[in-house]
Formats: sequence, structure tokens, C-alpha cells
Amino acid sequence: MSTELPESAVPPPVESDDSASPPTRRTFIATGAAVGGAVVAGGVIGGTVFAGAEEASAAETSPSSRVSLTVNGTRRTVTVDNRTSLLDLLREHFELTGSKKGCNAGACGACTVLVDGQRVNSCLTLAVRLEGAEVTTIEGLAKGDKLHPLQQAFIDEDAFQCGYCTPGQILSGVGCIQEGHTDSPEEIREWMSGNICRCGCYVKIVRAVESTAGRK
Ligand code: FES
Ligand code: FES
Repeated sequence: MSTELPESAVPPPVESDDSASPPTRRTFIATGAAVGGAVVAGGVIGGTVFAGAEEASAAETSPSSRVSLTVNGTRRTVTVDNRTSLLDLLREHFELTGSKKGCNAGACGACTVLVDGQRVNSCLTLAVRLEGAEVTTIEGLAKGDKLHPLQQAFIDEDAFQCGYCTPGQILSGVGCIQEGHTDSPEEIREWMSGNICRCGCYVKIVRAVESTAGRK
């Protein structure tokens, strides 16, 4: 008995269609990246308007203000978005990048500068509120080639490793000394507690502040 099937029972060969074939791992990743990019950029996908587009148009219409302030002895006038922090004004507009952005939320002290002699977290300070203010950053502490005594003390005491927190530590230390909170290592620790050092240089930082205060 023959086992051969009649010709009509054999399915015709399937035509290959690349556009209809299931995605390979490579095309899947490429498609995902393209869609992800569209979401990040903001736009319309499947009839949905994503927040990015709205935020972009809000940014275009956000109010700005003109502010004049003195930074490291130089009078500067700028027009900035009202939401600009002093830290971003210094870093992005004035290219004074010594003040560091650690947490951008008031928790680390890396952005500490002096405003009218008082230490502040510049990431939490709105630039437009500083009309007429005097700002001192790490770039303005030395007198020409002569370092501020606390800058020198940080070098002498070897009070840093990576250096990321150091500008904020020094400005905070200057404020701490001016405020007179330097009667003991414990008091210095307490009044410098808003400045975090991930490298753990606290013992030497306190020593640098203490020795500088002792020389005053
Ligand atoms: Fe301002 Fe951390 S960056 S407190
Ligand atoms: Fe590295 Fe302080 S020296 S974080």
C-alpha cells in the first residue's frame, strides 16, 4: 500500500516575509530604545500626550527675572528663570564650578557658599532672591596667590581625599570660625555636621578648622 499523499494534501511552501516575521532580539531592543526615546523626549504615542511635551512648553513660558549680585567681588547682572538655584547660577551661568552639586536637596553641604557672610546651601537658595547680595565661593577665598588660612590648613592637615566635599567644607569652616563655634573639637563637629565627607576625613577637617581658629 502506497503512503504517498496526494499532491493536493501537501501544503504549499510558505513565502518568507521579513516585515511580518517575529522580531529578533536585536530588532526588539532597537524598537524598545526608539519608543523609550520618544517617551523621554515627550510626544504622542498611541494617542497619548506624554508629560515631557507639557513640561517643555511650561519651561518655555516660565517667568524669569533680572537679578544683580556681587560674586567674589565682581558685580554681575543676569536674567534667569525664577526657579534657578544659586548653585546652578554659579555653575551654569558664571562657570564657577568649585561649588559642588552633591544631593541638590540640602542634605550634604557640598554646595555651601557664603551669602552676606552667612553660610548657606546654594542648592536650596533661589538666585532671584539675592538682589544686592554678596556671594563668596571657593574661587573667591584666596587673595591672589595667597590661600585663605583655612585652605592652607586643609593642605597642611591633609584634610581631604577625593576633594569633592572640600569646597563646601572650607566655606562652612570659614562660617563656623566667624560664628565662633570653635571652642572644642566637639563644638566644631556639631556646627559642621551639615557637611558630609564620604571619604571620612572628619578628624583632619576638624583639626584644620581648629588650628585656623586658633591662629585668629
Ligand atoms: Fe546642596 Fe547637597 S548639593 S546640600
Ligand atoms: Fe572625598 Fe570628602 S574628601 S568626600
